[in-house]
Amino acid sequence: MTYPIAVYGHPVLRKVAKDISQDHEGLAEIIENMWETMYQSDGIGLAAPQVNKSIRLFVIDATPLEDDFPELKDFKRVFINAKITERTGEEEITSEGCLSLPGIREDVKRPAQITIEYVDENFTPQRDTFSGFAARVIQHEYDHLEGILFIDHLSPLRKRLLKGKLTKIAKGEVDIDYKIIMPAGQNKARRR
Ligand code: NI
Repeated sequence: MTYPIAVYGHPVLRKVAKDISQDHEGLAEIIENMWETMYQSDGIGLAAPQVNKSIRLFVIDATPLEDDFPELKDFKRVFINAKITERTGEEEITSEGCLSLPGIREDVKRPAQITIEYVDENFTPQRDTFSGFAARVIQHEYDHLEGILFIDHLSPLRKRLLKGKLTKIAKGEVDIDYKIIMPAGQNKARRR
């Protein structure tokens, strides 16, 4: 089954997500449903807070982009209890979007390389270094676990220019073909 997606204004997107244990209830099913939700909405990554689950889990399948970015070849993975231990390299600017911010695309500056420790879907510990677009997608999804959205990386001016769009999203006024969760108490939603 697919999950509806929490959009800007929903408080779950601002929470710091919690680590989970291997016996987390329904974990295999949650992962399967997250894949299905991501594919159905044409995303390349999806973090659990976006489906209203405040747990440290995200999935990425960037293989549709591997023609443009060779580093994405076979890049399909489940990241559980992830921790970015190192961010290195020069900062790069690339345009990003997010299923929780429909209709918004902005240039975001991020370090070019990261090292991340996590467990995979079998709870096997992994430690990997990624660069290029892979590092970018991971940092974007990882931010969701920390209650951070990509718009938080924009300049105050840029963010101010998006205010009208953000207000519309928080009211559920979006033109998309996936299901969303209406932000609870939308008019009082905390913004930053
Ligand atoms: Ni996102």
